[in-house]
Amino acid sequence: MTQVDVLLGLQWGDEGKGKIVDVLSPKYDLIARFQGGPNAGHTLEFDGKKFVLNTIPSGIFNEKTMNLIGNGVVIDPIILKRELDNLKKAGHDPIADGKLVIARKAHLILPTHQLLDAANEARMGKNKIGSTLKGIGPTYMDKTGRNGLRVGDTTLPDFKERYAKLVEKHTEILSHYEGFEYELAEKEASFFEAIEFLKTIPHVDSEHYVNGFLKEGKAVLAEGAQGTLLDVDFGSYPFVTSSNTTTAGACTGLGIAPNKVGAVYGIFKAYCTRVGGGPFPTELDNEVGENLRALGHEFGATTGRARRCGWIDLPALKYAIMLNGVTELIMMKADVLDTFDTIYACTHYEYNGETIDYMPYDIISIEPKPVLKAIDGWATDVTKITSVDEIPAKLTEYIAFLEKELEVPIKFLSVGPDRAQTLELR
Ligand code: GDP
Ligand code: IMO
Ligand code: MG
Repeated sequence: MTQVDVLLGLQWGDEGKGKIVDVLSPKYDLIARFQGGPNAGHTLEFDGKKFVLNTIPSGIFNEKTMNLIGNGVVIDPIILKRELDNLKKAGHDPIADGKLVIARKAHLILPTHQLLDAANEARMGKNKIGSTLKGIGPTYMDKTGRNGLRVGDTTLPDFKERYAKLVEKHTEILSHYEGFEYELAEKEASFFEAIEFLKTIPHVDSEHYVNGFLKEGKAVLAEGAQGTLLDVDFGSYPFVTSSNTTTAGACTGLGIAPNKVGAVYGIFKAYCTRVGGGPFPTELDNEVGENLRALGHEFGATTGRARRCGWIDLPALKYAIMLNGVTELIMMKADVLDTFDTIYACTHYEYNGETIDYMPYDIISIEPKPVLKAIDGWATDVTKITSVDEIPAKLTEYIAFLEKELEVPIKFLSVGPDRAQTLELR
């Protein structure tokens, strides 16, 4: 019997999960997404090509790897169809190749879930979450509210009636948002067209499917979306997404028992970013932050929004490592710091007149101030290095400093967006 390895983000998302899942996928028989939905944008680059995946697991470009969209994921059939159509245009057809399956128990995002997301955000004005407007929150609300529609429902004879009943509830709610105008007919037509398409992807029970792989001794990797600090329970609530982005989410989002979890890969940037609203203690709302954004091309893969940038936040990373039981770390985008003579790491926070080394409960009304440690930069282009011996001494020192602070080894170092720009450190 094998175990499920988990790869997930330790910050506020966009750490580079897609790239690393793609790099690791040859070692796995199955890659499984376990939560989130098309709010995710996972970027992969290889052979001069670039792909952004929203719903489809990032193992899709590896020839022998199966890909599962798990029960914890919320699915917008229109976006999923578009993703698969685009892949087909680029010469990849996972359905024809039998490389993609989808959980019957995964919930569906309806066009009205998106409208509810938009209406909610509009009403909150400047206090809005800054959601991706993909309908994620309202869909998970219907899931836990026991109203949702699932992938498996699409093949039931009364699917259209079930759909109509839920939409009636949604339009009733929308009528209370004064001045919120919307058009539904056109979106509904695309939705039902996409539902027919969804039926062509094999539906499975993810709990039996994944455990079946384990029983056969096959290797499984669970791919997280978003990041730990966006977790609905442990993130910077309410500025979070609506699912458990942590390792525990892989258990509920796929149907595996906690003792089936193997290695946990925690992935982080050599600095930090956040997109959308909410606290961000190490944010650099200045020229340095703009510089990081330009050098790191920090614009959302899903929404195109400018990402907020700041220094690495060690109290937040330690918290994420604890919550996830991280066994190995992966550091991304070291190359983005190539031109800095000095870089900084937040080691503590000043909070309410005290120096603390943990994330306090209320970081919304009292934002912690970072205590920064200056670190020599390596001031060398690392994008072309291909072996560990070529890593500049100052970057090796930065890695050693982080490993000492975080008490977990850094296994991989990423020095550019391409698949090939990845170094295995141990
Ligand atoms: P994900 O959501 O965690 O998969 O990450 P995103 O794809 O949203 O954002 C990561 C961005 O950084 C993408 O544009 C990647 O192509 C890019 N990227 C990944 N690793 C590196 C790296 O080591 N260096 C640089 N410069 N870019 C990287
Ligand atoms: P990947 O998987 C970065 C953020 C949104 C917003 C908050 C809630 O690419 O790392 P939602 O649409 O989920 O209700 O938005 O969460 N967010 C992400 N930020 N990367 C993501 O995914 C994100 N998915 C959601 O910007 O602040
Ligand atoms: Mg992303």
